[in-house]
Amino acid sequence: MLMPAFVKTPDMIATMRRAATIATGALDMIGEHVQPGVSTEHLDALCQQYIESHGGVASCIGYHGYAHATCISVNHVVCHGVPGSKVLQRGDALNIDLVVAVDGWHADTSAMFFAGPPSIASRRLAAVTQEAMYLGIREVKPGATLGDIGAVIQQHAKQNGYSVVRDFCGHGVGAKMHEEPEVRHYGQRGTGRMLVPGMTFTIEPMINAGRHEVRTLADEWTVVTRDRSLSAQWEHTVLVTETGVEVLTLRASEAEAFAKVTGA
Ligand code: MF3
Ligand code: CO
Ligand code: CO
Repeated sequence: MLMPAFVKTPDMIATMRRAATIATGALDMIGEHVQPGVSTEHLDALCQQYIESHGGVASCIGYHGYAHATCISVNHVVCHGVPGSKVLQRGDALNIDLVVAVDGWHADTSAMFFAGPPSIASRRLAAVTQEAMYLGIREVKPGATLGDIGAVIQQHAKQNGYSVVRDFCGHGVGAKMHEEPEVRHYGQRGTGRMLVPGMTFTIEPMINAGRHEVRTLADEWTVVTRDRSLSAQWEHTVLVTETGVEVLTLRASEAEAFAKVTGA
């Protein structure tokens, strides 16, 4: 039987699991370093060091000319925030996104962190975004469609008075960081491609406290909300299994929040 090119064999998945373990280890490591007064380039250097010392490759370095191991997106930055010398302020909310490769196979994940105690508004936005991601993950099983994932994410954002970014999406991941299919975080149940076992892709909703529109800064990387409202993002690499889903990049620290939404 002819299988779509994006279906992975058990060997490929095993290698992606090794990349995922390094990626999750890096996010576990970085949490305690996220503090007021720390620069985002320092956090980036720590992540790169962790990835490389554990035998991984930081896939973002050199990707379309990008020069860092991570994207660090603070407050109203939606995604692709470029690490730099600017230091974190008390109450900043930030997404740290990294991609790790082992033997050419990639895993892509990101999470929200706070520099000191967050505002109620940014804590709530981060929590709702995390729930939206888990709700999307809960839909993943053979026979479901990509539209099922987008629909539940969009509904959860809307229900909470937020909007889903439309200009950036999740994506297949494997031998390339970005491959087919595109995984929208909005849409209609029962539409789009049907999921089959062996597919690996990311679910990475970007949710804005205000309007969904975004704009890219002159550095050609940093994406911000047009209305300068807060934005949050979480990301996992998932595998469609015979019976449902395996989250390749799930961390122990997420177990409780994950179980609350998925019951798993
Ligand atoms: N990790 C991002 C994603 O989730 C992509 C980063 S682009 C790069 O798709 F240039 F930083 F690599
Ligand atoms: Co990512
Ligand atoms: Co991604």
